[in-house]
Amino acid sequence: MARIPQEIINRINDTADIVEIVSKYVDLKQRGRNFFGLCPFHNEKTPSFSVAPDKGIYHCFGCGNGGNAINFIMEYEKISFVEAIQQVGEQLGIEVEFSRDNKSKEFFYELHEIHNLAADLYHRTLFSDKGKKAKEYLLDRGIDEKLIKLFKIGFAPKNSTFLFESIKRKQYKKDVIKKSGLFGFSSSNIYDRFRSRIMFPIFDTSNKVIAFGGRVFGVEDPAKYMNSPETPLYHKSEVFYGLNFTRDSIRKEKYAILVEGYTDLIQLFQAGIKNAIAVSGTAFTDQHVNQIRRLTSKVFLAYDGDSAGVNATLRAGYALLKGSVEPKIIDIPSNLDPDEWIKKEGPDIFKSEGIDKAIGVLNFHFKSSKFSESSGLNRDKIINDILSNVSEISSPIIKQDFISKIAQATNLEENQIIHMLSKKVTRNKFRQTKDEQNESSNLFSTVNGKAELGIIQVLAGKNDEAKILLKENLDVNKIENDQIKKLVEIFLNSDKVNAAEIMTHFSEPNERVIVSEILMQDDQTSEHLQIAKDCLKTLMTISVKDKIKQLRLQIREMETAGKDTSKLMLKVVEMQKDLDV
Ligand code: CTP
Ligand code: MN
Repeated sequence: MARIPQEIINRINDTADIVEIVSKYVDLKQRGRNFFGLCPFHNEKTPSFSVAPDKGIYHCFGCGNGGNAINFIMEYEKISFVEAIQQVGEQLGIEVEFSRDNKSKEFFYELHEIHNLAADLYHRTLFSDKGKKAKEYLLDRGIDEKLIKLFKIGFAPKNSTFLFESIKRKQYKKDVIKKSGLFGFSSSNIYDRFRSRIMFPIFDTSNKVIAFGGRVFGVEDPAKYMNSPETPLYHKSEVFYGLNFTRDSIRKEKYAILVEGYTDLIQLFQAGIKNAIAVSGTAFTDQHVNQIRRLTSKVFLAYDGDSAGVNATLRAGYALLKGSVEPKIIDIPSNLDPDEWIKKEGPDIFKSEGIDKAIGVLNFHFKSSKFSESSGLNRDKIINDILSNVSEISSPIIKQDFISKIAQATNLEENQIIHMLSKKVTRNKFRQTKDEQNESSNLFSTVNGKAELGIIQVLAGKNDEAKILLKENLDVNKIENDQIKKLVEIFLNSDKVNAAEIMTHFSEPNERVIVSEILMQDDQTSEHLQIAKDCLKTLMTISVKDKIKQLRLQIREMETAGKDTSKLMLKVVEMQKDLDV
């Protein structure tokens, strides 16, 4: 993966003036050392959003959002870390370049180059004699030459070494050829993966070709589409086809239209509806939802009107709801897809009949499952199906909405629905807490985790006595959380580390809530000494407890083996005494 060197990130964090940056978006008033304003991330009438210029961070005491200047830009502009760094870097005149070790730099460079060469070659071929039929097919389907060129659609001819021969002179390493996903390997030969197919290049958001979807035409082939496999460049569950062309329009329109196919997106675009995205030959995932949430909070689903489309719509619809993005479902007349519909009826009908009449997930679920005409048994199944999804929605308001509407539709009391839901909730909750235990989130919840955070608070603060106490007594190896451990090591080796820099080590929003809050607290330096002592004691206690546990195991083994355990027993008793002081 491309990386921005930590030095550059640090330089930007050091240089960026958080007050200046935030002031562009929030009206800030100085109070004491810090600045306050109305939080841009939640609705409020009295300011609880604070900015600490000396620390380079912000934190909202109302909603918990917090971080450094880069985090602020990311959250406000809904852009990625890399984009935010580039934006702020540009303002500060700091050049942001990507670093990779040379070998991997070359590797990625060559992967991009191969894709670029292939896209050019296929595109040229479409406009050559070899591509005549393919081009006719596209024009026949109503995709104009202008769009063919914009989307760089191409043609891969029948010859099984067409692409391979053309890139041979470049002498790419075998690894690059292999990992590109553009070739197949037999015992003796390398051959092109895509043959006799119309080629749709898949771009990343910076307009680089990272994969292809290839469509057969004119013949029956069980695989209508063949797509690039997962490669170092192409992570299917994160990529939307067309987003590079439609991102600006999505921001402007404040909603996106999600379609299934390459051709749907192109056809909508051609008709002037330029805010669509397509999943590219894969299922719609939670990662897709996260991507969308950065751009917009509303998505119109325009999947095919067939039964596979209906199921995919329900899945995507609930996934969006769970991810706090509002889904609206466009009812596409049966057996059509958006491509055919818009060709037949034009963009105005698509808007007035599709967009304007789009319905919510619940109504769509009722409608598509023919709820009102179903037998009691089936209705029960449908409701349970719906409730399983509802139980994973975090917003209580949306949940309540569902409950009221389900109660209405079933003629049951809301309480009865809530009861049905509560059974599902406990099951999900159990699953969640178990997951959470595996996640790094125990960083904040366990005694150990809290102590580790306290250490950071002290090391970032101004109480030298407390800091020295830690520096002299802390055994870094007792720190469980790798991130914190790394941070503590940075602190122990340098005197000048600022809060903004600390934030760069925590990218998860839930981590940032806690870490920014801790760092935002006033440097009550007298308290820090106590915190340092408490943290040291907690870490010591935990490691002693661990040792006792190990000793107990050892003792049990020795007992079964009939050995004398009295020495170890004594040791345990002594350690136990230490703990009790
Ligand atoms: N798809 C795929 N592999 C297949 C079939 C479909 O990857 N064998 C993906 C493609 O991204 C395709 C999308 O699913 O664009 C939707 O499939 P479908 O509706 O069958 O294709 P359309 O896009 O409508 O293609 P066309 O209009 O060219 O028939
Ligand atoms: Mn189609």
